[in-house]
Amino acid sequence: MKKIEDYVRSIPDFPEPGIIFRDVTSVLQSKDGLKLAIDQMQALLKDVEFDVIAGPESRGFIFGVPIAYNLNKAFIPVRKKGKLPCETVSMEYDLEYGKAVIEMHKDAIKPGQKVVIIDDLIATGGTIEAITKLIEELGGEVIKIIFLMELKGLNGRAKLQGYDVEAVIKYE
Ligand code: PRP
Ligand code: ADE
Repeated sequence: MKKIEDYVRSIPDFPEPGIIFRDVTSVLQSKDGLKLAIDQMQALLKDVEFDVIAGPESRGFIFGVPIAYNLNKAFIPVRKKGKLPCETVSMEYDLEYGKAVIEMHKDAIKPGQKVVIIDDLIATGGTIEAITKLIEELGGEVIKIIFLMELKGLNGRAKLQGYDVEAVIKYE
């Protein structure tokens, strides 16, 4: 039986020279790959008590929504700048290749809510660090952070010290 790793396609020098791009589309385009990924990420939430799942645009939506649905929880979309129509909180952050700004609606999280963050991949950790700050600014508590893939060489976990961080697949 194939493992999730077997479904991830690695593309050297995309989108820039020196980057090895770990492509999640090759996981998603297999029904077995998709099921393995959702099931194994969701298994990391067994016995975790929480209120809502948050995930960043766009790849965080792919995994966050089905897991929230399966566990009968709401999903909070964290979006790139300028996409959300109501009052927002926002944060600029650095990526492996570039910079970005993410936003959340101010009313997305109620003070005291326990939040799980889900994304496809941690590289530098900049995206999720920014999201933890936004959630905490809104009064939420980050209970757990789950990735499908972790690029260990970029040491993104250093930015997430003090949080419960888990990844299904790890690349050195
Ligand atoms: C990718 C990926 C993570 C983030 C990881 O998203 O899906 O969210 O980068 O990088 P970091 O750990 O260095 O922050 P990207 O911003 O490329 O957007 P996309 O999901 O829309 O492709
Ligand atoms: N996002 C940031 N770095 C990435 C990488 N190396 N592969 C896929 N997605 C990424």
